[in-house]
Amino acid sequence: MRLFLERLLRCPNTKATLTKLVFVEVDGETIDGVFIGPNGFAYPIVNGIPRMLPDAFDLFPEFVLKYQNELNANGIEYRKVGSLSSAEHALKKRTQETFGYQWNQFPDMVEQNRKFFITNYSSVPEAFFKGKLGLDAGCGFGRHIYYSSECGATMIGLDYSAAIDAAAKVTNGKPNIHLVQGDIFNPPFADETFDFFYSFGVLHHLPDPLKGFCSLLPKVKRGGSAFVWLYGKQRKVLNGILEAMRFFSKRLPMSVLKPIALVLAVVDYYCVILPYKVVSTIFPIEKIFPVFKTGRFSIYTKLPFKITYADWFDRLSPPLRYYYDEHDLNEWVVAGNLKNERIQATGKFGWKLYGERE
Ligand SMILES: C[S@@+](CC[C@H](N)C(=O)[O-])C[C@H]1O[C@@H](n2cnc3c(N)ncnc32)[C@H](O)[C@@H]1O
Repeated sequence: MRLFLERLLRCPNTKATLTKLVFVEVDGETIDGVFIGPNGFAYPIVNGIPRMLPDAFDLFPEFVLKYQNELNANGIEYRKVGSLSSAEHALKKRTQETFGYQWNQFPDMVEQNRKFFITNYSSVPEAFFKGKLGLDAGCGFGRHIYYSSECGATMIGLDYSAAIDAAAKVTNGKPNIHLVQGDIFNPPFADETFDFFYSFGVLHHLPDPLKGFCSLLPKVKRGGSAFVWLYGKQRKVLNGILEAMRFFSKRLPMSVLKPIALVLAVVDYYCVILPYKVVSTIFPIEKIFPVFKTGRFSIYTKLPFKITYADWFDRLSPPLRYYYDEHDLNEWVVAGNLKNERIQATGKFGWKLYGERE
């Protein structure tokens, strides 16, 4: 963790500034340490990443064991702090477990990610990012933050799960990327810190997506931008079938879910996607039926098998998936008091929402 990030961080619970204790430092970067806030709140810094969650010490028992003496000597309470009901807690834990597992199993950067970042997910052109300070809320294994930083932004990546450790490997110490493990509902930053935030494919997995969006907005400066990508309601039948499958799959352990995702991916890729690819090289399907241009085949034929596999896991595992239409997103614009808003469909998969803070 570098000084740049340290200066931006606040206690997620009290919003107060933090005091840092350093246990291991390399070349001026804190590798292991603790942030101490008021009222007994403390957050470990583990493997160079600040873990700004109330129960963060529970996630790193080895860290607690290793630094027991230092923690005790400084009177740091590493018990759980929080007030969630057991149902809320179980939901958050499953979200944390599935995505942490998923992105450490499938941290695959493919060259098409850059194009998809701009054309499918982002509502702004590449030039937008240059010289700005941005937040990638729910950065996962880091595919989007990698490119937003390449486009010239200094980026902070926030994620709730161990996906943040996969992101650290993918972004590999890039000087304009800084990573934090934390919760969108309690972002560990002062208000009006960022020029923009984006959140792609994340908020629809939260128990209250609009609340998550509204927790992020104050972190952006007035006049700053917010843009998100969310699942669309348009594919009613497919979404219905998927939700019926998910009724069972979201309860399964990861070790069972992974082979199921593999079987579905093999069938999907070798029986549907590849044949479509072969036929479309002989017969110009997408020219004759433009509706296929924005469909899933058009995307998956350009991607390697491993992405189909990762995406089947992604469909089946998270505890929650909400779907949206234009009307819903107009309500977000009103709730967020946004100006200069744009709402665009990305095929039938989802929606891009862009707006600026009043
Ligand atoms: C489907 S993944 C998308 C990751 C990334 N945006 C991408 O498109 O590759 C959703 C991510 O949101 C993260 N997430 C879920 N709930 C969160 C929360 N409350 N706060 C921060 N991140 C969260 C998950 O850990 C996961 O990495």
